[in-house]
Amino acid sequence: MIILKSERELEAMRPACQVARAVLDEVCDFIQPGRTTREIDQFAASRMKDYGARSAFLGYRKYPCYICISVNDEVVHGLANERRVDFGDIISLDVGVIYNGFIGDNARTVAVGGCSLEAQRLMDVTERALYEGIAQARPGNRVEDISRAVQTFVESNGCSVVREFVGHGVGRSMHEEPQVPNFVDGKSRQKLRPGMTLAIEPMVNAGSPAVKVLKDGWTVVTIDGQLSAHFEHTVLITEGEPEIMTCPARMPLKLRV
Ligand code: MF3
Ligand code: CO
Repeated sequence: MIILKSERELEAMRPACQVARAVLDEVCDFIQPGRTTREIDQFAASRMKDYGARSAFLGYRKYPCYICISVNDEVVHGLANERRVDFGDIISLDVGVIYNGFIGDNARTVAVGGCSLEAQRLMDVTERALYEGIAQARPGNRVEDISRAVQTFVESNGCSVVREFVGHGVGRSMHEEPQVPNFVDGKSRQKLRPGMTLAIEPMVNAGSPAVKVLKDGWTVVTIDGQLSAHFEHTVLITEGEPEIMTCPARMPLKLRV
């Protein structure tokens, strides 16, 4: 069952998305060569606390960290550890928070200091694929119209979409129906309706789409060792244009003192 949010519920969910966005921005600004992924995760935890929010990931199916930090060939769900990020690395940061009883979920890949042209191109293709998908997030369309837009854009730019992990409905729970794949699977025929809130999140590989999960049970890596990027927004279907709920809007967010 797909949960449609009322205007009242959206009024509670928008600030959750704004906190998720603010924490993601701040984490990106915190990144610099030499910082460990543990320090980055701890910084995210302290920013969430300052906003009076909690991690939506910590403890989810025993996930052990506050955010997901995936480096280079890591695709998603990378775990914080003593690794130091280095100049030229690309880091995928996924931030989900619980605030006001709702979840905001967003992700972005950034370079540490600088990166190769190849890496920048992968990040650009992934981010633009996200907006191609969002552009289809309107009533009258189906979930698979989002999937097709993402897949077509990615593949026409010589990259590949990950199949094993998908976007999702989001609200009071992190994973609601429907699933939002980044490829056409023939099963995502649900009609989009106003009040649906979707996490649209292309995971894009520079090489083969194939991935595997490391022995830590979480970290997803590309099998060919090539780079991967990840961009995500929480998006509301409206009567008209899609609303990007995790955009950098200016809202009166209270810091908890
Ligand atoms: N944005 C990801 C998702 O929606 C992050 C989940 S990480 C997990 O699935 F640890 F919570 F699973
Ligand atoms: Co998500």
